[in-house]
Amino acid sequence: MNTLSDTSTSETPFSPSSEITKPPKTVKVWDPLVRVFHWSLVVFFFIAYFTEDDFQTLHTWAGYTVAALVGFRVVWGLIGSRHARFSDFVRTPKNIWRYVVAIPAGKAKRYIGHNPAGGAMVIALLLSLTGNTVFGMALYGADENAGPLAGTWLATFNEHTLKEIHEFFANFTLALVGLHVTGVIFSSLHHKENLVKAMVKGRKQMRADDFGSDVSTNSSISQIKE
Ligand code: HEM
Ligand code: HEM
Repeated sequence: MNTLSDTSTSETPFSPSSEITKPPKTVKVWDPLVRVFHWSLVVFFFIAYFTEDDFQTLHTWAGYTVAALVGFRVVWGLIGSRHARFSDFVRTPKNIWRYVVAIPAGKAKRYIGHNPAGGAMVIALLLSLTGNTVFGMALYGADENAGPLAGTWLATFNEHTLKEIHEFFANFTLALVGLHVTGVIFSSLHHKENLVKAMVKGRKQMRADDFGSDVSTNSSISQIKE
């Protein structure tokens, strides 16, 4: 299933004229399911966030959709395409730290998949969304005696407490999203590439010093330029 090393152009090597006229080679990075997952998550998260009070039915169904999307992403992180897998972007705290301190020094490497900080953010978002939706369902069970967690141990907690926890996770996720989008903008500017476009089209430019692509001999994760 590894189709991610495909290139989109077929230039003749060492031909100066073709280098001038043809666009740079690109490499597949995000498969269609990752892209549909991402933009659906954006839509349903914000629907859920802004419909809590007056549109309870819409709120709960948007919330269930978010929960299903997160469940899908966990499975896809285990069996999905190359850059979708957790093994491609989950790094040790030491590696994440080395990457983070390299940012202000301007030495943070470009990655084809998620960089180590981006990978940590993906995990933080998925965990926070899990807390958000599970406590939403617990609250719904306690409040209305409805939903998949109605009658379970979690729904026996004090309604007010469940509401506070559910709200906490919703706002914590929103704060993570703020950081996430800041990171995307910063990284796009730093590496002069449009990461949002890559999440729409699924492809990134190939560059000689990429990490995590087949064009590079650098397949390790020592991600900092010396
Ligand atoms: C990512 C998904 C979700 C987000 C962002 C979200 C966000 C919120 C927010 C911000 C509130 C207002 C809290 C307050 O005023 O104290 C709320 C309330 C609530 N949510 Fe969610 N929620 C999500 C998923 C769910 C799910 C899956 C369910 C249940 C199936 C659910 C059930 C409820 C209920 C019952 C309330 C209380 C409404 C009320 O009594 O005013 N939520 N949610
Ligand atoms: C409009 C605002 C948003 C933009 C522009 C945006 C953009 C992006 C981009 C460009 C990536 C790929 C990052 C990379 O190249 O490493 C990404 C990944 C991701 N974003 Fe967002 N994002 C937005 C909102 C959100 C929201 C609201 C959530 C969740 C509530 C979210 C969750 C994620 C997740 C989980 C990934 C990882 C994708 C995967 O590997 O499956 N994003 N986002």
